[in-house]
Parts: sequence; C-alpha cells; structure tokens
Amino acid sequence: MTQTLTTAHRPPGRRIAIASGKGGVGKTWLAITLAHALARGGQRVLLFDGDLGLANVDTQLGITPKADIASVVGGAHTAEDAILSYRAGFDILPGRSGSTALAGLEGAALGALNADLRRLAGRYDSVVMDLGAGVGSGVRGLAAAADLLLVVATDEPTSLTDAYAVLKLDCRARPPGHGDAAIVVNHAASKTEGQRTYHALARACATFLGRTPHCAGIVRRDEHVKDAIRRQTPLLERHPSCAAAADVEALARAL
Ligand SMILES: Nc1ncnc2c1ncn2[C@@H]1O[C@H](COP(=O)(O)OP(=O)(O)OP(=O)(O)O)[C@@H](O)[C@H]1O
Ligand SMILES: [Mg+2]
Repeated sequence: MTQTLTTAHRPPGRRIAIASGKGGVGKTWLAITLAHALARGGQRVLLFDGDLGLANVDTQLGITPKADIASVVGGAHTAEDAILSYRAGFDILPGRSGSTALAGLEGAALGALNADLRRLAGRYDSVVMDLGAGVGSGVRGLAAAADLLLVVATDEPTSLTDAYAVLKLDCRARPPGHGDAAIVVNHAASKTEGQRTYHALARACATFLGRTPHCAGIVRRDEHVKDAIRRQTPLLERHPSCAAAADVEALARAL
C-alpha cells in the first residue's frame, strides 16, 4: 500500500532514447552499460530493447526472455508481464529479432507502445531505450516521445552525417519545450579527439538547425568492451575500472 502511494505520487522517470542513424556505433552496448551505471547509482531502471525488428540486448547479455515486445504488441502479454529482472540490478523489457510486425511499427500501434512506455516510466527513475539504426518510423516515433534523446556518433564521416540527420529530424518532430537532444561520442581515440568530433557535429547543428545540442559524454574506444560483449557479461561487472566503464559512469552521473 505504501509502495502504491509512493509510486502514484512521484513524477514519472525520465525516458532516455539512444539513437545514431548509422548502425554499429555502439548504441546497444551503451544502452546496457548506461542502464547498469544508473542502477549502480541507486536508480530504478528499465532497459527497453527498442530496436524494433533487430533486437539484441538479449544477445549481448546472454539472456533468453520468455516474453518480449512482439508478444506485447501482438496482445498476448502486457508490457508489465514481459519485463524481466536482470541480475545486475535493473529490469529489461526485451525485444525480438526478425519480427516484420515490429520492423514496420507505426501509427496507432506505435502510439500504444509509447503509451506503455509512458506508463512504465511511472515505476522507474529512468527508462533507457535502445533504438535501431536508421531513421524509420519506429526510431522517429520512439525518439520524439523520449524526454532525452542521446545521439551516438563516432568520428567517421558517415556516422557524423547520419547523426546529423537524426538530430535534424528530431528537431522537426519534437514539440518545442518537450525534452531535449544531446550528443554522445563513442569510440573516441582520446577525450580530446572526442571533443573534436562533438564540436564538428555541434557546429553543423548550430549552422543549419539553429540549435546546439550539448555534449552528454565522450566514451573512449576500449578493447574491454568487445571482451565483455563476447562473454555476454555487462562491462561494469567484467571490467569495472576500464576507460570505457569510467566514461559511461561519468555520463550516467552527468545525466
Ligand atoms: N567504446 C567502445 N570501444 C570498443 N568497441 C566498442 C565500443 N563501443 C562499441 N564497441 C563495439 O562496437 C560493436 C557494435 O556495438 P553495438 O552492437 O552496441 O552497436 P549498435 O549501434 O547497437 O549496432 P546496430 O546499429 O547494429 O544495432 C560491438 O562489437 C562493440 O564491441
Ligand atoms: Mg544495436
């Protein structure tokens, strides 16, 4: 009863979406590690695998969910039923790979999913959403509803171009005063190089969009990340004091 009252009277948790445009820049790994870092900081965290159609949070963590977002969208489960409690101290709403119904999600079905996430945010301090690559309707619809969009970029020209496209579309889709977008540089050779990458992207946004997204964090390239993924173990558990772990912990604190 006390728990119900507490939940009912606190503001909903922040929905943090992670997108990039270009694939393979580290969104899923960052979403998992950020969720873990926020949980280690004492927050109640839900990690949502929002890569509709090509989910792989479960693969990176080596878990086999019994229910997932495809069964929620299909009406077989409620979102609450599909949530599993992960041993590292946060909850996961898993996705499903290879679902055509999810890959083309739009309109009312996408609206219902966003309504589920809004409702779930009432039970958590943060909902971290791993979005797919590209700028399809699912990515745009989930990103625009988030309170904070983190756009992940690397120093590759294709990544910068695609990250700019995501920021541009988000700028048009997000109602004024509703949430914010920020940049995270991943795979940075050093903090200084990461800052350089951030400034290149921020300059393009300032010039062509009239907005300068802030830098939420710089995450250095670190071979420990690959080792943790290969072993299907969270980085903060396997290599808690490596450079990339420190960078994501700093990002979590800055949020
Ligand atoms: N900071 C880093 N240092 C070294 N390797 C990294 C780092 N971040 C991510 N990687 C590597 O990049 C690869 C892609 O990561 P991940 O699957 O998280 O990317 P993604 O953006 O989610 O890809 P997709 O667009 O296919 O969903 C992984 O093999 C991971 O090991
Ligand atoms: Mg991914």
